[in-house]
Amino acid sequence: MQVILKQIGDCILRRCELSDIIPVMEINLRTLPEHYSDYFYESLLEELPEAFIVAEISGKIIGYIMCKMEHGFSNFKKLGFVKKGHVVSIAVIDEHRRKGFGSVLVNEALNGVKIRQCSELYLEVRCSNTDAVRLYEKLGFSIIQRLKAYYRDGEDAYVMAIDFTSGNYTSKSATNDSINLDSNK
Ligand code: ACO
Ligand code: ZN
Repeated sequence: MQVILKQIGDCILRRCELSDIIPVMEINLRTLPEHYSDYFYESLLEELPEAFIVAEISGKIIGYIMCKMEHGFSNFKKLGFVKKGHVVSIAVIDEHRRKGFGSVLVNEALNGVKIRQCSELYLEVRCSNTDAVRLYEKLGFSIIQRLKAYYRDGEDAYVMAIDFTSGNYTSKSATNDSINLDSNK
């Protein structure tokens, strides 16, 4: 069953399905230095399908976001132990960037982890990746800390996070209106 979350012009945002994993892996290979096994993608899809989302135009996947869920110390509350979402990876192919798809992917992942009662969403991003840092800041994420030599090539990462329980938090996502469609397989 396909779960369509949103449509923006000719682009559909929907939950990832098993058959999307190969095209998602291809986008990851082309756009990011951090790669994963097919087993890892499948395990994320199984664990948190609500926050593994693809953007599709005319039947072609042009972007994805995938997340996992963790229990651990809060990025916001001192000594607080919380359930939190973790963005493992997000990418949009080059020719479709700066059209808002990255933002809607993050917003839909936010909805997905909230459905699973997470109170925060966090991620690591290369300090040099100003496009991504700006995108996350625009959506309400804050820089929490800097991790020295986090990446294999020695680059530092920012940990960025957003707290859904904070009084300052207002969802920038427009809707929760998923439409369930029977797939025609
Ligand atoms: N220059 C300046 N700001 C930018 C740029 C850019 N080239 N691209 C995005 N932004 C910022 C802007 O604030 C922009 O808002 P605006 O268009 O209103 O000014 C905002 O981000 C949102 O842009 P979107 O169009 O929604 O984002 P896009 O679809 O371009 O996707 C993404 C952003 C996913 C970071 C894309 O650039 C990408 O795939 N990059 C390569 C992969 C990558 O770096 N992924 C993130 C790694 S971290 C991780 O995965 C946890
Ligand atoms: Zn991470």
